[in-house]
Amino acid sequence: MILSRFIVFEGIDGSGTSTQVRLLAQRIARSAPSCALSVTAEPTSAETGRFLRQILKGTHKVHPGTAAHLFAADRHEHLYGTDGIITHIERGGIVISDRYLFSSLAYQSIECGEELPYRLNSSFPLPQLLFFFDIDPQTAMSRIARRSSTEIYETLPFLEKTAAAYRRVIAGFEQDGAHGMRIVRIPAAEPIAEIASKIWNTVQELPILKA
Ligand code: TYD
Repeated sequence: MILSRFIVFEGIDGSGTSTQVRLLAQRIARSAPSCALSVTAEPTSAETGRFLRQILKGTHKVHPGTAAHLFAADRHEHLYGTDGIITHIERGGIVISDRYLFSSLAYQSIECGEELPYRLNSSFPLPQLLFFFDIDPQTAMSRIARRSSTEIYETLPFLEKTAAAYRRVIAGFEQDGAHGMRIVRIPAAEPIAEIASKIWNTVQELPILKA
């Protein structure tokens, strides 16, 4: 099932999704001020997401299969919890999420294999529009190295594995016709302004912005 007016940004750590989520949100707010826009991210800011952040920081260690279940549980709350994505969409709003189930299909497949993340995420709706930020892991790593704090997945060997896993996951959806989800690949090493224009042009093509 496709969730209309739901836009997702995906890519390995350091691919620049957060910057572009912010720029798109600013652009929508400027050109369609009456549009109810919700900007969100996974892991969420709910308790489930907070626990995941501790795991990502390495403060708390769990079995990889447990982490896969926790990411799916956090996503379930993100969608169906009070004032979640579904409620916002049903009220006619637009939701932009920095990461969604494609992160689980890519990241969790590395330690758990492909079957478990696919099974845990198979019943969630797909977004209307998916931006996949494709970047060379070495370039992404040099961006991450400039940050003050890093997470357990932010090493070059892990980024290389996630980059390959993402490409597999996205190609899989492209081959299956993506059930109506529009997938846009973003060459994420390009300048920020160029990427922002490409994203804006794509969003404007969709009849989702109420003037
Ligand atoms: P990130 O999106 O980079 O957020 P921040 O910039 O706030 O650190 O970090 C989230 C990390 O969580 C990232 O390494 C990917 C990982 N992740 C998963 O492994 N599985 C998931 O399902 C999701 C949503 C994220």
